[in-house]
Amino acid sequence: MLSAQDRPLVGEGYDNRPIGVFDSGYGGLTVARELQRRLPEESIVYFGDSARCPYGPRDQAEVDRFVQQICTWLLGQDVKMIVIACNTATAAGLSHAQRVFDVPVVGVVEPGARAAAHTTINRRVGVIATKGTVDSNAYSEAIRHIDAGITVFSTATPRFVEIAEMGLKLADGPIEDYLSGAAKVYIRPEFEEIAREYLEPLRRCEIDTLVLGCTHYPLLKALIGGVVGRPVTLVSSAEETAWDVAHILRRRRSFAEPGNVPAAAFFTTGADTAEFRRFGGRVLSRPMDVVEHVDLPELVVS
Ligand code: DGL
Repeated sequence: MLSAQDRPLVGEGYDNRPIGVFDSGYGGLTVARELQRRLPEESIVYFGDSARCPYGPRDQAEVDRFVQQICTWLLGQDVKMIVIACNTATAAGLSHAQRVFDVPVVGVVEPGARAAAHTTINRRVGVIATKGTVDSNAYSEAIRHIDAGITVFSTATPRFVEIAEMGLKLADGPIEDYLSGAAKVYIRPEFEEIAREYLEPLRRCEIDTLVLGCTHYPLLKALIGGVVGRPVTLVSSAEETAWDVAHILRRRRSFAEPGNVPAAAFFTTGADTAEFRRFGGRVLSRPMDVVEHVDLPELVVS
């Protein structure tokens, strides 16, 4: 691994090293997909910690430890920056990671909060996320930091992670746009009932903007949008995070060289790499060439 001094990070032109992206499983691929769309010349190393998914119900200290381990592992792959493409992990471990590691580390909460604060008109914003993210108050603090006049209503919706992962196994084809035939797999009475139970109280709060505060939830846009109805705008952090990454690379002059042929490498702690490849490719909307397995004992804190 190159030392900090050896890295051509600032002011030296281009940097073809990959961007490291991670999540507890498939959800972060919604962010990776936006990165590939927005920055097509950038290489990506994606790490899905499927063996320890879900992160949502775990305590913050444990998830923070996972973040330290995975960032250490990604730096071993010589990444030039790290995107924590998981809200739960961002809430639990972003600041610690930023203090410890010498590459830029960005999370998804601040970008999502910004998107919501800039979207709401009546200044009533709902946030749905895992229990870990909701308990951390990360979204309400980040939104109010941008606009102290916004009222935030947060609800933990843990079963949505389960539904998002379940739906991937129920249909074929890429979930390219959320209204595609494949995305409609989520429109089922049993899922709608769960969604109504979670979302009705938020509807009654007269929110006009709803943050999908978990990177798995964009897969459920059709389901969630159908239940909350048209006056509510759904926002997620994927696009906004990709913008942030682009700004950082531009300011640090560390874009990949024009014409760079990007590589994408995928790793999972899950036992079934073939399954990760099949379902992950659907979220990414493009095939994953190879998925490699990483054993949990390989993950150590530097
Ligand atoms: N994708 C993760 C997030 O954004 C949550 C999934 C999980 O509970 O592991 O919070």
